[in-house]
Amino acid sequence: MWKRALLYGGLGLAALACAGFGYLSLRSPNYLPAETVQVRMTPETIKRGEYIFTVMADCDGCHSERDLSKFSLPVVPRGRGKGWQFPSELGLPGQVVAGNITPDVETGIGAWTDGDKIRAIREGVSRNGRPLFPMMPYQAYAKMSDTDVQALVAYMNTLPAIRNPLPETKLNFPVNYLIAGSPAPSRNVANADRNSKLEWGKYLVTMGGCAGCHTPEEKGERLPGKLLAGGAAFTVGKYKVVSANITPDPDTGIGKMGEAEFVERFHQYRKYLQDGPPATTAENFTLMPWLSFAQIPAEDLSAIYAYLRTVPPVNNPAETHPTK
Ligand code: HEC
Ligand code: HEC
Repeated sequence: MWKRALLYGGLGLAALACAGFGYLSLRSPNYLPAETVQVRMTPETIKRGEYIFTVMADCDGCHSERDLSKFSLPVVPRGRGKGWQFPSELGLPGQVVAGNITPDVETGIGAWTDGDKIRAIREGVSRNGRPLFPMMPYQAYAKMSDTDVQALVAYMNTLPAIRNPLPETKLNFPVNYLIAGSPAPSRNVANADRNSKLEWGKYLVTMGGCAGCHTPEEKGERLPGKLLAGGAAFTVGKYKVVSANITPDPDTGIGKMGEAEFVERFHQYRKYLQDGPPATTAENFTLMPWLSFAQIPAEDLSAIYAYLRTVPPVNNPAETHPTK
């Protein structure tokens, strides 16, 4: 996740030593122009897009206003898509701003074509050709099918426009040069096969960004052999939470958790969607998007569970709410 930002700092020095500033500054990335598409605005596509935005890919997680005083930081509906500037305490390499992605013409993306939006989401190129900082998970969304990304854009086109001027992302040297190589074309992506439980589960795990939070990192780089093994710590203000081990390891992961228990682990939070979530405390503080993911149907959770059973078990004790 955002800790990955540190990677670019470390890489920077090595790359500079090898390549020198001249090469980096002269290299001009050759991104494909945005496709000419106009998404279908039907009730079905908009509904599917809303599901991807608010539940499965949790775009809300970074682009919407959240209520930090409540469990799992629910979205403030009036602030959906208005964007926000990450606080400098997070140690990001510069000023990082998840932009206003509402259809406001001046301060949002209302003047963008549908093709511009799809290119930004799957390929990491802003409308003006600027490479996006890969904290925006476009490297995962690159796998989003044409059908899904078009549905997503259809929904985004229906968001109420919110006027919210934000500064542009300004990354420090040398990260600003290094990320020029991160965007990559992704065109003509077929639908994942819903009838293959494992393929579908893998697709959902990719869209849900599970590995981004559940894989421990060092200096911003995912630790080899620790995929989904938990132990990544997140500090927000006075609160701290550590991601859980969700590999099938029986002792430290979810190896002993049956499928029904797994589904219930998510669906138990449906009560908060109805009654409102409780206040944030040190014991319940979490960044796991429980309020979004509680809405995933049992069938999809079952596919996610099936896929997670196939990742290598890793013995890695991860205490989610350390007491000391
Ligand atoms: C982990 C946080 C995170 C998540 C989740 C996320 N984004 Fe982003 N997004 C960002 C950041 C940060 C930027 C700005 C990057 C930059 O300016 O270099 C960004 C940029 C964008 C842009 C380009 C804005 C511009 O003005 O160039 C679009 C469009 C966008 N995101 C859409 C989405 C959509 C749609 C989703 C869900 C499918 C999503 N994002 C999920 C963090 C996130
Ligand atoms: C933004 C970060 C984030 C994302 C994205 C995320 N998680 Fe989590 N997850 C956490 C944290 C932190 C915890 C530990 C605290 C808690 O239980 O709320 C956790 C806990 C869990 C648990 C509970 C494990 C247990 O033993 O009780 C499960 C299961 C889980 N996550 C599955 C997933 C799956 C599947 C995905 C992707 C679809 C996912 N998570 C995406 C941060 C995240």
